[in-house]
Amino acid sequence: MSQETVCPTPLNVFKGPNALQDFFDPDRNPPLPLVEIPMELNPLHKDGVRIFAKILTQLPAQNVKSLPALRMLRNEPEAHRQKIVEASSGSTVLSLGMVSRALWGHKDVHAFVTNKKDTSSLRLLRFFGLNVNLYGGLAQQEPYDPKSIMSRLKARADQNRELCYPGQYHNEHNWKSHEQWTGAQIWKQLPEIRVFCSTVGTGGCAVGTGIYLKRQNPSVKVVGVCNVMGDPTPGPRHFPNFESSPFPWQETIDAFEDVSSVDSYRTSMQLSRHGIIAGPSSGEALHGLLAYLRRMKAEGRLPELADPSTGEISCVFPCADLPYQYMDTYYKKLAEEEFPPIRNKNLLYCDQDPYDERWFLQPEHAATMISAHVFRPRPQMQLLDLRPRDKYEESHIVGSRSIPLPATKADLFGDAEAVEQRWTELTQAVREQEWSAGQRVLVLCADGDSARMATAMLRAKGCEALCVEGGYPAMAGYFGREL
Ligand SMILES: Cc1ncc(COP(=O)(O)O)c(C=O)c1O
Repeated sequence: MSQETVCPTPLNVFKGPNALQDFFDPDRNPPLPLVEIPMELNPLHKDGVRIFAKILTQLPAQNVKSLPALRMLRNEPEAHRQKIVEASSGSTVLSLGMVSRALWGHKDVHAFVTNKKDTSSLRLLRFFGLNVNLYGGLAQQEPYDPKSIMSRLKARADQNRELCYPGQYHNEHNWKSHEQWTGAQIWKQLPEIRVFCSTVGTGGCAVGTGIYLKRQNPSVKVVGVCNVMGDPTPGPRHFPNFESSPFPWQETIDAFEDVSSVDSYRTSMQLSRHGIIAGPSSGEALHGLLAYLRRMKAEGRLPELADPSTGEISCVFPCADLPYQYMDTYYKKLAEEEFPPIRNKNLLYCDQDPYDERWFLQPEHAATMISAHVFRPRPQMQLLDLRPRDKYEESHIVGSRSIPLPATKADLFGDAEAVEQRWTELTQAVREQEWSAGQRVLVLCADGDSARMATAMLRAKGCEALCVEGGYPAMAGYFGREL
């Protein structure tokens, strides 16, 4: 949105046939939030450093590529009737898929993806309706290698008018989208900005935002953060794979930092815990920014960055995507001790059969079944009584079978050890009997809890098991006497 424009949708409502088009249009939205990170995450706070997160995850596609996708597609006049192809397994092609539907209801979008990608990433792409085309060989390829997937797609699109290849690595509308929106918004929000630090994949965000900011104030520093070679974080690249970029990075990016994947994942987890919910590459940008600032400090050069009037060093990094799709990797990369423990962990290894409230009968509902059974016992219906032997011998329902279990805690499910013990006893008892699929079983116990567990177990074996809320005492109470 230009500085003069008033947001046309101040209440954030998008209606009518153009609702989605407008929703994806940054000029019809308020600027994305710019949020200062807490002191706890800013070890250089005492040096006058202030760090702000630019929340690009609040774009409609919830990632940094929403903007390049929009500008690239707007500049492809035939794309709405072409097959759109892109070499991307993440943010770019996800955004292209959503934007092409939002602009034109067009669904013919194809992701060209390394066959080394994990199945959950492929599922994510297909969830969003993208056609997945796998390629073999090196996963992350150098875009200008004539044998790379990018060069192959470009050659195909050059010869086939039915194909549209936006080509995020060479398409100037990629970086220009960040000049147009990310840079302009940040400048308006924080004119005292001194450092902009972004990871570098195609370089679109770093270059476009950097160009805009430097044009406003040539002393703004732009830092690019790359992956360590052989230790990738999803999105950014290692420097040798970026170096051939045709984007004007040499005159824009002042310094580069390399950040390990573990540092990236950990930093993004810390951000997320504080409410700046961000994926690994966002943590990589913050970690790289801090590495740059620490280096400047060690060289005695921090004052070079400071605002002459306030002495403060205001820095911005983008949050490029969300962490949820990487959850398994967080647990692989980081040590178990970095996550809060799970209490009652023993419950993960027992009592795993699903429960269903529909199997827990009120005494009045069970009464009909019990009466029928008492008057005309049938082999296909079993009445099981799990109470201790002495209780069973004191009184029981005629025709019920005793599988005596020891007395247990009054509140079984309030005690994880008791649950495990009861589950072990029940597993043993159930294993000793023959059960046939579809067999009807009504389970009673001293208070209803053990019978719930037994019902779940028997259901998992294919029986039509049911139990009574409150167990035998509730049944006896219903009939108004000992049975
Ligand atoms: C999650 C994520 N972070 C960072 C980047 C890098 O952004 P750029 O291509 O603008 O350098 C990408 C690029 O796809 C990304 O998907």
